Amino acid sequence: MKRIGVLTTGGDAPGMNAAIRAVVRTAISHGIEVTGVEKGYSGLYDKSFLKLNSRSVSGIINKAGTFLKTKRFPEFKKIEVRRQCHQNLLDAGVEGLVVIGGDGSARGAYQFSSDFDFPVVLIPASIDNDLYGTDFTVGFDTAVNTAVSAVDNIRDTATSHDRTFVIEVMGREKGNLAVEVAVACGAEIVIIPEVKLENREIVSLLKEQDKKGKTSSIIILAEGAGRANELAAFLQTEFPNRQIRYSVLGYIQRGGSPTYLTRVLAAQFGTAAVELLQKRKYPFMTGIKGNEIVYIPLKDVVSRSKDIPAKHLEIVKNMAI
Ligand code: F6P
Repeated sequence: MKRIGVLTTGGDAPGMNAAIRAVVRTAISHGIEVTGVEKGYSGLYDKSFLKLNSRSVSGIINKAGTFLKTKRFPEFKKIEVRRQCHQNLLDAGVEGLVVIGGDGSARGAYQFSSDFDFPVVLIPASIDNDLYGTDFTVGFDTAVNTAVSAVDNIRDTATSHDRTFVIEVMGREKGNLAVEVAVACGAEIVIIPEVKLENREIVSLLKEQDKKGKTSSIIILAEGAGRANELAAFLQTEFPNRQIRYSVLGYIQRGGSPTYLTRVLAAQFGTAAVELLQKRKYPFMTGIKGNEIVYIPLKDVVSRSKDIPAKHLEIVKNMAI
């Protein structure tokens, strides 16, 4: 392979830049040229291509976001759009593609690779950590640490004022982020989209905690399981003598300098992705299982779902005594 392309797509995640850097420098060290594609799949369509060299990726390892920019591009679902993207890559002499992104990006990558038998490898990068086949995605560790530090700060107020806080974290489809944050912050309750928890169950859990002498509590709510303001308002009517407050952490979870674990994972995945393309192994996703770098067929990634973090859910429950 003489030239490969690299793009970032979907929601940004800390460590995307570090992953691009690893792809570019690994490829160059193997004598492969690299074309950067701006704004995800839309850049393939608009021919927004730029030649990258080792210096193009200097000074970005510690920066969140993506210097190649990212964009959601629903038009990529249309075959005629993908056909044009394929033609544009051929015209630019690009023989393989590294896609850095989350679950939507995985579906696009799989479809594109299958349509044209084109070599594509996905590097999973998402703060949601919701892709089948890998223990961790690039950016997850950073987002968890950002949220943990925010929740710790809120805990100070919760304790001082004897308040109950509902804290909404990201996770539209899955609760992996919420569960990890809950374990790490010692939250009393965690609510995620995959496990239904009725309002009356939340009320009875809080009443139990009252009986145990707990004067403050933290409820971590994944955004896909409800709205923090609504739950807080409901709980306030159920517990008129308690002070209930809420906070929505929002987009602060997507930014911030990547942690050491995020950067190392990005470096490992970037290296592995180029090696896979070199061996013409596609369509695959790079992943990590235990301490080992693994390769998962994209067909499995798009057709299977990641298990609920059941053990960690159990830990939250057991620790809230
Ligand atoms: O990156 C994943 C994610 O953070 C989800 O948890 C969230 O719902 C979504 O992206 C929102 O992203 P956007 O507003 O960019 O579409």
